[in-house]
Amino acid sequence: MNDIHTIEANIFERLSHVIDPELGRSVTDLGMITSIEAVPSGTVNENGDGIIDVTVHVELTVKDCPLSETITNQINGAVRSYVAPGSPNVTLVPHIEVSSMPQDKLTSLVQTLKAERRQNPFSKPGIKTRIFAIASGKGGVGKSSVTANLAATFAALGYDTAAIDADIYGFSLPRLFGVHTQPTNLNGMLMPVTAWGVKLISIGMFAGADRAILWRGPRLQRSLEQFLSDVWWGEPDVLLLDLAPGTGDMAISVAQALPNAELVVVTTPQPSASDIAVRSGLVALQVPMKVRGVVENMSYYEHKGEKLRIFGEGGGQRVSEQLTAALGHDVPLMAQLPLMPELRETGEEGRPAVLTPEGALASTPLADEFTSLAQQLMELH
Ligand SMILES: Nc1ncnc2c1ncn2[C@@H]1O[C@H](COP(=O)(O)OP(=O)(O)OP(=O)(O)O)[C@@H](O)[C@H]1O
Ligand SMILES: [Mg+2]
Repeated sequence: MNDIHTIEANIFERLSHVIDPELGRSVTDLGMITSIEAVPSGTVNENGDGIIDVTVHVELTVKDCPLSETITNQINGAVRSYVAPGSPNVTLVPHIEVSSMPQDKLTSLVQTLKAERRQNPFSKPGIKTRIFAIASGKGGVGKSSVTANLAATFAALGYDTAAIDADIYGFSLPRLFGVHTQPTNLNGMLMPVTAWGVKLISIGMFAGADRAILWRGPRLQRSLEQFLSDVWWGEPDVLLLDLAPGTGDMAISVAQALPNAELVVVTTPQPSASDIAVRSGLVALQVPMKVRGVVENMSYYEHKGEKLRIFGEGGGQRVSEQLTAALGHDVPLMAQLPLMPELRETGEEGRPAVLTPEGALASTPLADEFTSLAQQLMELH
């Protein structure tokens, strides 16, 4: 049975494709979806399928406007046609509650629409920050672990380092860094939380009511831009972004918001993972984004001095060669990281494995690999 919150989040994501015909923006972007509640009804339909009642509260700009039916029909369709991953026998029954936006919300929406888009500090010309977006086609290959350990390495090497958890639904940086506090809010400017020397921000840091606000407003859609412009970053030497798995949309938003960002593609050694990793790098054909290099994770397990290639080999090299050929510039294989149970264990304790409990770089092969990766990334090219 799927987690109910995953269903709600997935439906919210689907609704981001429902466009208000007048304003030409999605209903989620416009803050029209004020809540989504999925509740198992405890009954089954005639086919014996479980039923989940999904109540969607919609605030229209003007109630009873002729277009309201178009919007509610689309929302209905988006909920009805949703098939919960892993639970094909669950039927979602939509209940759409329509109201009109309170006057103050409408006024501020209009202001927002009119206002110039706010500047994010990283798109200023001449900014010294090096920005690396960590991507992979497939999920679970280790993007977040690589981001966390690389960020901790940069910080331990003395770089002023920041990291953004751009994986809105699958955020993991707070856990990997052992962060349990919330960002301080200074008159609308959020201060990142510093852990293991890294300035961090993640949607996972916003609890309860604050998360609900992020959920409701236009923020979820444009969370990356919000994180860039509403968080006080200063001017770090390095900014890392942990992207959600997938091959497209997020990398495109990154390229738009951060024209200097360089993509680092993470893959595992087996061919099935490397094919999709190549695709995640090919996004650079669509947007002007540099693909900086490839990191192969879980390359081998070291047992009694022998390197056991548990997941096969050659994936990282293939991704490097194929991206080099397709993009017409060198996309080197920059690191091959071992499979290390400690990496997962320390991660679960809230400490990046490259660090000692005191926060210094450990003298381990893993820390050496990350140090070399960090140094290669900082080289100008
Ligand atoms: N080199 C490694 N050795 C051992 N365990 C690893 C290694 N890299 C990652 N893991 C473990 O594999 C799992 C997936 O890693 P991680 O969450 O970093 O992947 P991801 O690509 O960010 O996943 P998602 O796509 O879900 O965001 C985690 O449990 C992590 O601890
Ligand atoms: Mg992740």
